[in-house]
Parts: sequence; C-alpha cells; structure tokens
Amino acid sequence: MLHSPSTEQAPNDLDAFWMPFTDNRYFKANPRLLASAKGMFYATPEGRQVLDGTAGLWCVNAGHGRETIVEAIREQAGRLDFAPTFQLGHPLAFTLAARLGGIMPSDLDRIFFANSGSEAVDTALKIALAYHRVRGQGSRTRLIGRERGYHGTGFGGISVGGIVTNRRVFGPGLPGSDHLPHTHDHARNAFSRGQPEHGAHLADALEGLVNLHGADTIAAVIVEPMAGSTGVLVPPKGYLERLREICTRHGILLIFDEVITGFGRVGAATAAERLGVTPDMITLAKGITNAAVPMGAVACRREIYDTVTGAMADAAGIELFHGYT
Ligand SMILES: Cc1ncc(COP(=O)(O)O)c(C=O)c1O
Repeated sequence: MLHSPSTEQAPNDLDAFWMPFTDNRYFKANPRLLASAKGMFYATPEGRQVLDGTAGLWCVNAGHGRETIVEAIREQAGRLDFAPTFQLGHPLAFTLAARLGGIMPSDLDRIFFANSGSEAVDTALKIALAYHRVRGQGSRTRLIGRERGYHGTGFGGISVGGIVTNRRVFGPGLPGSDHLPHTHDHARNAFSRGQPEHGAHLADALEGLVNLHGADTIAAVIVEPMAGSTGVLVPPKGYLERLREICTRHGILLIFDEVITGFGRVGAATAAERLGVTPDMITLAKGITNAAVPMGAVACRREIYDTVTGAMADAAGIELFHGYT
C-alpha cells in the first residue's frame, strides 16, 4: 500500500526526486532549476534567460515550444491519450512508421517503436538475436560495441557501451559482449576538418574478434556512426565502410545508434545517409519527437522484419515477444 504524502513536506522539497546522472547531494545544496523554454532559451524560475547550447540533451532538434508540436500533443491527449499496440492499433502509429521509413536509408523501413533511446538499443540487440535464431544460427549471441560508446542505460546498452563508469557497479552485463577500439586518435587527427584521415584500419579489429570468437558466435555490431557522449568523434574516412564490409562478409548485423545523429543533427535525416554507409538497423529517439514526448524507434531492413515475422508463417502467433506500453 502506498503511504500518503507527508503533510510536513515543503512544496519545494528537493529530496524526493532521485536525479539521474547527477551528484544529488551537490545539486540539492546548489539547485539549478529551469522553469520554461522558448526557441533556443530556457528561463530559470527567477526569470533569467539561459542559452540552451546543447538542445536539451541533444534532443530538442527543432527548438523549444514549437506551436505545431505543442498543439499536436494537446489535441491528441484530448482525443485518445493511449491505445495499446499489443494486438490493437491506432492509425497514426502506422502513419508515423510509414513516414519514418520514408526518410530512412535504403530499405530500412520497418519500424519498431519504443519509449527511449535505451529501449530502442535493447530492442535492436534483441531483434538481432531473434533474427539469427530463426535463421537457424542460434549460436550467434555475441554483441559487439565499441570503447567510449554510449548506448543508453539498459542492460543491453551498458553491456555494449564503452563507458566503464556506466556499468562498473552493475555486474557482468550480457555474457559474451565485446568491444572494438575507439577511433579517437588525437595525435594524428587533431585539427581535422570533416572526417579525419587516420583510423580506417581500426575497423579491422572486428576481424580480430571474428578470429578470436568465431563469426558464428557474433550476432551484431553496434556503433554510433558519429560518437556523442565522450566527445564528438567523427568517424575516420573509410572506417564505417570497412566495418560494413567486414560485417557483410561474416553475416554480422550492423546497427547504427543514431539516437543523437538522427533527424537533421548531421545535416541529413540520418548519419547513415550523410556518410553514405547503410547499416542493417538504426536506433532512433530524442529528435523523433523533439523530445516533447518520450519515444524511440528501431528502423530495420525489410529482410529482418520478413525473416522474424515469417518465422511463424505456418503457425499463427506472436512472432517477437517484445514491446513496451
Ligand atoms: C547514442 C545514444 N544512444 C542511446 C541513448 C539513450 O537514450 P535515452 O536516454 O533516451 O534512453 C543516448 C542518450 O543520450 C545516446 O546518445
């Protein structure tokens, strides 16, 4: 049973909210609060303007308080606040999936929705495992990420992620996950304009992992095409191309985590389009709703959708036991 809230609690009490990725004790002694936002600026409760130099957390791609977005949310909440997507549907979910598919590269136009980037990542990793399993390659269970990578905070995301503080106290993570080296080569690539010259060879580390573990144990490789969380790391010329080629040669699925880079952040709908390399799945979130509503998605190649959903072709039933309310 829930306890009723204490009547002694001050209305501005900061203690109850356990803030994520925050020094809670410091913050609560020195609170920095935001009260409203418009365009590129936040306003504090005292009315001071603060330039939002990071677009929220890389997620308010179209600026704060866009009337069309605000009105769409208001209108939809009044008409139909929630409709299940398990065994039922709302027409707009199908419309949105079709429109998203229309701006994804190549045939990555089968869309699975989630509620965050972390969920999108875990979804993509699970789809990769399911895909190999239904093709009779159930030994492919290893998931490969990259040093310095950030893929959210789910168990899948922290396992393939390469930021040690994000997983140090959370146990061993997914068994068999492994990591490629990061591409930050300060000594040789400092002051590069655009894509740096040096580092394509770092993709060959995937060949090393194939030699070490066997390709038949590796399900997928996930990388941010342009890394975001430990410094904005532009991929070296030829690096993503080589990663793509090695994945294709060994039957390994390539996932681009475009939670940051999607929706115009790099000058195209996706970094895949901007950089001319097409993965097998793309994870999306943040800018998908301008962060005004929590949402994520995975864009999958048609063949992945057809394979997983076709697996049950002669036995009606749920094809993928996965989803979020
Ligand atoms: C590349 C990348 N993947 C995944 C995530 C996780 O997204 P969320 O915080 O919506 O779970 C982030 C968040 O910053 C991200 O930058």
